[in-house]
Amino acid sequence: MSRVPLPYTQKVLDLFRNPKNLGKMEDATVTAVAGNPACGDMITFYLKINDQEIIEKASFESYGCAANIATASIVTEMVQGMSLEAAWKEMTWKKVTEEVGGLPSVKFHCGVLAVGALKRAIRKYFQNKNVSPSWVPQELSFEEKQALEEEELAKTLAKRLNVAEENQS
Ligand code: FES
Repeated sequence: MSRVPLPYTQKVLDLFRNPKNLGKMEDATVTAVAGNPACGDMITFYLKINDQEIIEKASFESYGCAANIATASIVTEMVQGMSLEAAWKEMTWKKVTEEVGGLPSVKFHCGVLAVGALKRAIRKYFQNKNVSPSWVPQELSFEEKQALEEEELAKTLAKRLNVAEENQS
């Protein structure tokens, strides 16, 4: 049986084929790895931040799908030159989804993962400095909750596997 291709926009396809800012950043100020429990895919996000807390550059590595690569790519472009505060407040999965011209609803979580990785990186930057700006809420944002850290993701997936095995036996 052949699979029906997902209705991706031209922009998603273009960014998937020709992603911007793809690859490891050797001089990153902060790096965050995040995985999505919905599909088990992972992304690494790199930010270079200057003393004025402006994002000088951003890059990513993705082991996800076309939607994830496209949204991560556009996030790296959008945040360049933004203050951390503006990036935190303005970048939402909905905005990023709009920016790529929309995503099939089964792929919303892929954009959530891209923004979640960005927000995890911003939170980590301040944790590393041991400061907590008032605009970073104590509670994780929606996107961060969906973008689990590596260990949490492994635990979630292992739990799910166990449940599936128990259901089979
Ligand atoms: S299906 Fe996993 S990131 Fe898109």
